[in-house]
Amino acid sequence: MGIVFCQEHNLFQITTLTTEYCIGITDERYVGHVYYGKRLEDARCACLLRTEERPFVPSTNQRDKGAFLDVFPHEYPVWGVGDYRESCLMVRDSQGYRGCELCYEDYRILPGKPKLPGLPATFVREDAEQAGGGQTLEIICRDRILGLKVILRYSVFDDSDAIIRGVEVENEGTRPLYLEKVLSACLDMDAEEGYELLTLNGSWLRERRIERSPLSYGKQGVSSGRGESSHQEHPFIAVLEKQAGQDQGQVYGMHFVYSGNFLAQAEKSQYDSLRMVMGIHPEGFTWVLHPGERFTAPEVVCVYSDQGLGKMSRIFHDLYRGHLIRSPYLHQKRPVLINNWEATYFDFDSEKLLAIAREAKKQGIEMLVMDDGWFGRRDSDNCSLGDWVVNERKLKGGLKQLVDQVRKEGLLFGIWFEPEMISPDSDLYRKHPEWALQLPGRKGTLSREQYVLDLSRPEVLDYVYESVAAILRNADIAYVKWDMNRQLTDVGSSYLDSDHQGEVFHRYVLGVYALQERLVQEFPKLLLENCSGGGARFDPGMLYYSPQIWCSDDTDAIERLAIQEGTALLYPLSTMGAHVSDCPNHGVGRITPFATRGHVALAGTFGYELDITKISEEERKEIPGQIALYHKYQMLIREGDYYRIASWRENHCYDCWQVVSKDKKESLLTYVQVLAQPNVRSRKIYLKGLEPGADYRLEMEGGEESQILSGRLLMQGGLLIQRIHGDFISRLIHLTQV
Ligand code: GLA
Repeated sequence: MGIVFCQEHNLFQITTLTTEYCIGITDERYVGHVYYGKRLEDARCACLLRTEERPFVPSTNQRDKGAFLDVFPHEYPVWGVGDYRESCLMVRDSQGYRGCELCYEDYRILPGKPKLPGLPATFVREDAEQAGGGQTLEIICRDRILGLKVILRYSVFDDSDAIIRGVEVENEGTRPLYLEKVLSACLDMDAEEGYELLTLNGSWLRERRIERSPLSYGKQGVSSGRGESSHQEHPFIAVLEKQAGQDQGQVYGMHFVYSGNFLAQAEKSQYDSLRMVMGIHPEGFTWVLHPGERFTAPEVVCVYSDQGLGKMSRIFHDLYRGHLIRSPYLHQKRPVLINNWEATYFDFDSEKLLAIAREAKKQGIEMLVMDDGWFGRRDSDNCSLGDWVVNERKLKGGLKQLVDQVRKEGLLFGIWFEPEMISPDSDLYRKHPEWALQLPGRKGTLSREQYVLDLSRPEVLDYVYESVAAILRNADIAYVKWDMNRQLTDVGSSYLDSDHQGEVFHRYVLGVYALQERLVQEFPKLLLENCSGGGARFDPGMLYYSPQIWCSDDTDAIERLAIQEGTALLYPLSTMGAHVSDCPNHGVGRITPFATRGHVALAGTFGYELDITKISEEERKEIPGQIALYHKYQMLIREGDYYRIASWRENHCYDCWQVVSKDKKESLLTYVQVLAQPNVRSRKIYLKGLEPGADYRLEMEGGEESQILSGRLLMQGGLLIQRIHGDFISRLIHLTQV
């Protein structure tokens, strides 16, 4: 395992637990992609580098250099001298010319993994025994005409099958360079027959739906130009074999550790080659690099699985738990919370909150979260963002008094902020209209009656940080929900000169990261939950700061099945904010059993989002039982391996997933019958991830009898789920090795 350079074959071999990635250097010093797949361990694979199109090779034939560049599998394609496929790097020089050509010069193999300045990034965990070390390969290339140095980075961890890609660009010349496009990674491979593309698409209340489509000639993919990773498209693509499913088939996945504009694209060329690229979206992007300056692009996680999507998911989950999430809550039980948003919306005061807190405590809930509406004059979403001053009309005696009262009731206290925003109707805007992102002479586009703060301005960062931190310093607050409720428009900054206007989108994201970094440094024990109008900024970048993210404003248990399935394709269940809410559901009007709502929310961080003082007595009585389930299973769900058994999206009938502890001693199966069918037999499902030779005791939650069956039988023979009468009904089955 690790990274080696084979001099004889001019080949870099990067090996992970089960995969290998090989990079070759040609005689002309082009850096080319040789192989990515199952471990090969044979440097003679260098012969796979597509220089066999000999007549085109520039050293023997300058006449057809263009044809060579357009077919060669580049590790990092550049724009302007002959490769017409999607490029990763486009540079304009100080005279306005665009064009670049990179030549291999050197390499370094480093222990561990360098930090990325100002950016979230995977890392080698120093403290944990369960996580191993790592290595990084740096391939150094130059364009001597531009005076440009490009470092291509490949990092691996001893305990992971992922390969982390990154790029750093440095101006070694004497004049400014303008980076018009710096993508982070490219995978140039062969487009095998029948490949498909998998993406996650959605909308507000409908995030991360899995979609597969045939890979066709030309460019296809997903992107965001919204200033955040977005509800609509997710910074992830996978190319996979048509027959690939949960357990079989080859899959190549790329996931972007970034929270702003992105491009994720696959392209099938005239020669049936496949190019996958990922990085910051070039639209609206230019970064000025003065002599001596460097630009570091956010990193991309690449995962290859030869055993379908299930293995891919587990590689991502383990990587994020082991090497990305830093919060002390990563391996800790999260408090069961109750959030007042769907309970009261803006219509609350201390009394109402205290009544909720008291009743919540009785039922075993551990934390009250006060959502939007506690500051300024905010009785609706029309005003006051930016005025982070407690509204004492609602919270009589102030925030500290309320927090102390809630603490006295025996609950922790959590609070909502939307720090990146400014309402036109706010004292802050009246004082500092120039602090909003804006284009000179144009009236800014409102969304939810708010503008976005210009986080490229240092004084705005300081104001925002101090507003949040002052509140946290003055009261005993355990949790913050950091929200972001609109996407960016009018992306201009009166703080920056004309050369730097193309940097605002990226500077905004760097501003968010800088703020959250300060927050987690000053308040290391804080439980931070990110949120963006539900799950519009659910991405690996934000996970570096917060161990959990609100998955979606859609809290309906049935809608959540698809949202959580798509989210869990990449993210560990421990990261998915999930709550039991009231019915009819506020998003879709559906009525589902309280038990089902609980079982579905258990596959996440678990909490409540309802007025506990107003729900029916029968439902309230179910809460202590649900919380007991949470306490019983939270560790298994947080730390275990996730297996998808069936998808309602595909079968239109039922959904089923399973979590298995790492030592395979325990497992939890969740089965949800979405729509009942008439006149059917019991349903057979096949479990996964168990120890074939071990026996397991099966106990159905709420059921009386238990059964003992072997892992092999459960996985090969299956398990019968008795026919269920009715829609939206769920079962939890707990398995323990005997
Ligand atoms: C967003 C969040 C909700 C809630 C509201 C408050 O929509 O996703 O959970 O906090 O904002 O305005």
